[in-house]
Amino acid sequence: MSFANKVVIMTGASSGIGAATALMFAKEGADVALVARTQAKLADVAKTIEALGRKPLVIQADLSKEADAATVIPKTKKHFGKLDVLVNNAGIAPQGCLLDGKALQAYDDAMKTNVRAVIQLTSLAAPYLIQTKGNVVNISSVAELRPSKMTTLMFYAVSKAALGHFTRCAALELAPSGVRVNTVNPGPVENEFITNNKLGNADDFKGRLAGYTALGYIAKNDEIGRVVLFLASDKARSITGSTYLIDNGSLLK
Ligand SMILES: NC(=O)c1ccc[n+]([C@@H]2O[C@H](COP(=O)([O-])OP(=O)(O)OC[C@H]3O[C@@H](n4cnc5c(N)ncnc54)[C@H](OP(=O)(O)O)[C@@H]3O)[C@@H](O)[C@H]2O)c1
Repeated sequence: MSFANKVVIMTGASSGIGAATALMFAKEGADVALVARTQAKLADVAKTIEALGRKPLVIQADLSKEADAATVIPKTKKHFGKLDVLVNNAGIAPQGCLLDGKALQAYDDAMKTNVRAVIQLTSLAAPYLIQTKGNVVNISSVAELRPSKMTTLMFYAVSKAALGHFTRCAALELAPSGVRVNTVNPGPVENEFITNNKLGNADDFKGRLAGYTALGYIAKNDEIGRVVLFLASDKARSITGSTYLIDNGSLLK
């Protein structure tokens, strides 16, 4: 799946799925813009990509802030001259539910990063994606399709459900312009998501999460990355508005 001469923006590129997938795009020849808040982690990912002989663009931005998010598309266009693929991968899982008094805070935080920023970036990217007949891949979750088993993650699930429906609406609007928009919906993935979101002890979680899946297995970052690359490639040219579940059967349980 060659991405030679393609320009890809990866949000949430400083760790986990985003870092792994950015590296996979670069291995396939893409020029990659790496977006996240943590400069040091972005620099590490950039170094790994530079070792392949490619030069990524690092954009430090807090996507929950409209002014920061507004810089991403213009910087990428200025640096690489065009845009082919936007991967909206950055996401957080703030905790809060109806009975703990944190519902509105968790809702606002989840929506700002997981949905509002995606709408902003997609809207700013659309004119350039139309020029290249490019596409958007949004990283949602199995939580889009059913409530999270942790009730304190209800607004994470709500935000991913909104992201899924935004994807379908965006796919419909942009289809006449030749731009595709899809989601990849992972189940549990083995990475820093649990610790980054202060959801508990990562090792305890690992055991529990494996039990949530029918296959008794937790996906690795690059397994999610492979689905992202497929959807972003011309091999998926007939696919838009679709929901690509990769959850080891956790929806079945
Ligand atoms: N891990 C799982 O089990 C799992 C399952 C289903 C779906 N997902 C989804 O997969 C996506 C990637 O998560 P992950 O699993 O790779 O976990 P992760 O390692 O915590 O990655 C999240 C990424 O988002 C970035 N980010 C968070 N808030 C941001 C903000 N305001 N502005 C810019 N960047 C921000 C983080 O970087 P900085 O902190 O440096 O900003 C980090 O690079 C998320 O959308 C998540 O919901 C994960």
